[in-house]
Amino acid sequence: MIDQHSDGSERYRIGDALAELRSLDEESAAVVCLDDAWARPGRQGAFGVEYETHDFETTAEIVDVAWDVLEVGGWLIADGDDWLAPRLETYIREEFGDVTDWYEGGGYRRRGGVTYVDGSGEPDTSTPGMYLSNGGYPVVFAHKGPTSRRTAASARQLARHPRRVEDGYPYDWGSVKPIEPYRNWIEGLTDVDELVVVPCAGTAPAAIAAEDLRRRWLAIDSEQAARDAYLQRREAYLEGGEQTTLLAATDGESNCSLSTGAGQNDSCPGSGDGSA
Ligand SMILES: C[S@@+](CC[C@H](N)C(=O)[O-])C[C@H]1O[C@@H](n2cnc3c(N)ncnc32)[C@H](O)[C@@H]1O
Repeated sequence: MIDQHSDGSERYRIGDALAELRSLDEESAAVVCLDDAWARPGRQGAFGVEYETHDFETTAEIVDVAWDVLEVGGWLIADGDDWLAPRLETYIREEFGDVTDWYEGGGYRRRGGVTYVDGSGEPDTSTPGMYLSNGGYPVVFAHKGPTSRRTAASARQLARHPRRVEDGYPYDWGSVKPIEPYRNWIEGLTDVDELVVVPCAGTAPAAIAAEDLRRRWLAIDSEQAARDAYLQRREAYLEGGEQTTLLAATDGESNCSLSTGAGQNDSCPGSGDGSA
């Protein structure tokens, strides 16, 4: 089974993120990748997504528990948007510190993000909006205490919007994020066999990246349908039907093969076709 550990326990658990994170050993994970199901005030339940969304207090609670699961020196990589990211940064600074204050300490380190680009490399403006198009999302990086986990990988990544190449439909799930940015960050910040935990996983791009990089991983989502979408996405990635970053596509390269699967690049028919 692709989503079982060697001891038979599930690698993609269906359950509440808080409860499942609390059930894990403290200080066991090298990286936690969180794309929480938060919603800014007034938008709970009105996000155009099937799954449940919640308020910032719940997000903060998930961050607290994720922080417990991180080993000292481990990194939290948390997706946000214009509303969430500054609040998340403030919360992390207040609770866990700010590296600009205690440089070798821990806490909030950096704001990065993902910029979606179209087939010609221009910022993708396909997301409709009358107050400027967003074309991507911010990502908050923080580490627990001092860290020797360092990488020159860019905190700011370019990526194509993740859609299935053949039908343009993102796995029938909301807020689907690209795989490649997480692959670059996980590769830089962890070693083979270290644990990557992905609460609120959805189609679990970070878990797919972690598997590709031969890291151990655990994904958690409250919805069975999310796991189904993940399985569909993993298969697409394995078959090369998952779009890759523009840079990879321009180079004629992609990282669409999992280590358990087909060979690199030539098995990736979807890469570099310029479709959004
Ligand atoms: C923003 S989406 C993640 C999307 C993901 N980044 C992707 O690329 O597919 C948030 C996810 O959190 C899940 N979720 C909502 N409440 C949850 C909870 N209490 N515990 C675990 N997962 C939850 C939703 O089902 C949804 O899949």
